[in-house]
Amino acid sequence: MIIEPVINGVVARTAHPYGCEQAVLEQIRYIQQTTTSDKNTNHGPARVLILGGSSGFGLAARIALAFGASESDTISVSFERGPSEKGVGTAGWYNNYYFKKHAEQEGRIAVNIDGDAFSQETRTQVIEAIETYFEGEVDLVIYSLATGARPNPETGELWRSSIKPIGEAVTGASVMLETDTWQDLTLQPASEQEIESTMKVMGGEDWESWIDTLINAESIADGCQTIAFSYIGPEVTHPIYLDGTLGRAKVDLHQTSHALNLKLANFGGAAYATVCKALVTKASVFIPGLTPYIMALYEVMKEQGTHEGCIEQMHRLFTQKLYIDEPVHVDGERLIRIDDLELDSETQQKVQQLLTKLNRDNFKKLADYRGFKTEFMNLNGFDFDGIDYKVPINIDEFINITP
Ligand code: NAI
Repeated sequence: MIIEPVINGVVARTAHPYGCEQAVLEQIRYIQQTTTSDKNTNHGPARVLILGGSSGFGLAARIALAFGASESDTISVSFERGPSEKGVGTAGWYNNYYFKKHAEQEGRIAVNIDGDAFSQETRTQVIEAIETYFEGEVDLVIYSLATGARPNPETGELWRSSIKPIGEAVTGASVMLETDTWQDLTLQPASEQEIESTMKVMGGEDWESWIDTLINAESIADGCQTIAFSYIGPEVTHPIYLDGTLGRAKVDLHQTSHALNLKLANFGGAAYATVCKALVTKASVFIPGLTPYIMALYEVMKEQGTHEGCIEQMHRLFTQKLYIDEPVHVDGERLIRIDDLELDSETQQKVQQLLTKLNRDNFKKLADYRGFKTEFMNLNGFDFDGIDYKVPINIDEFINITP
């Protein structure tokens, strides 16, 4: 079959296997090219568990560690759909498959666990995999889940996140990737219940419960660290992000990092929330009102030569902030900041100026919509030069594979 891109709103419904391999390979090559000079200074983790390692920051972290100086072995948990008679499957499924293929070629252990990270069954599978492949212990746990719902572990009832402002309505715009059109929107403030549910889904509670599970299973190695990803952003994004439901969840995540830091201190380890740059991922395109900012940011940072993608961010995190000869670099709130280039004052000044000019008629010309859209297409294996999308794919070849 010939696989064409199908987008509904901001959600990709198809993925191209060879394009996904290309996306994984490009990240591997970036790490291989930038690693040689870091080799002597590495104290990176040998055995890494990634929760949410099939796309975005989690996948980039996995690649940076497995193909970087630490040559880490990895176990990754993700919730993806494989190809079947019903559809071609998700990009994350192919990313898992191709990551494993290339990591094993380099002699790394690469285990993919495809299941719901919130379920007990997946936790049991992870503990078993740690026993089998990691001699029972992990050196780093990366929490990179992004999802819209989480079951209450006691009742099974779903908490659903709502990406909304708090207190008052916010106006803004989103861009529909399906139609390349600008849509003005007004977001009504969240109810108390919506705030609470979003914290349950995207806050720190599940991160903490994973670390507790690993402590109870005696799977935490001496010196084990854990990180989770956060976003703060400039003031212009605060009404929809930091001061909204997502921001509340992230503040909860930051607080959890302190609690986990105390727990892991018993093992000589530590926990950090890491504040990343705004980037195009499956999760971020879903945030209403953020697209104009990301497009403007891309435009300015590319012009300044400071633009980074997930892989550059993760490379910098591990080699310049976390696994270094000096104490871990944190700010006054004990957050690791790799959003420094995004928040640079000259960059932000230019972004603000550009944002005031953007509208439905000029956003493709003035901001980097082309870059935004290309990254989105690339996430799903499309729009790569060098891949002939007219060549039919034998999807049956993938159907019986366990990635
Ligand atoms: P993503 O959508 O690319 O990746 C999410 C991962 O979570 C995927 O591997 C997916 O399979 C997995 N996942 C989702 N539900 C799951 C479940 N129930 N069980 C197992 N796995 C599940 O998202 P992205 O953007 O990489 O987000 C990761 C973290 O980074 C989030 O905490 C997000 O808030 C944070 N972040 C993202 C930024 C951005 O601009 N994209 C900026 C700063 C922080």
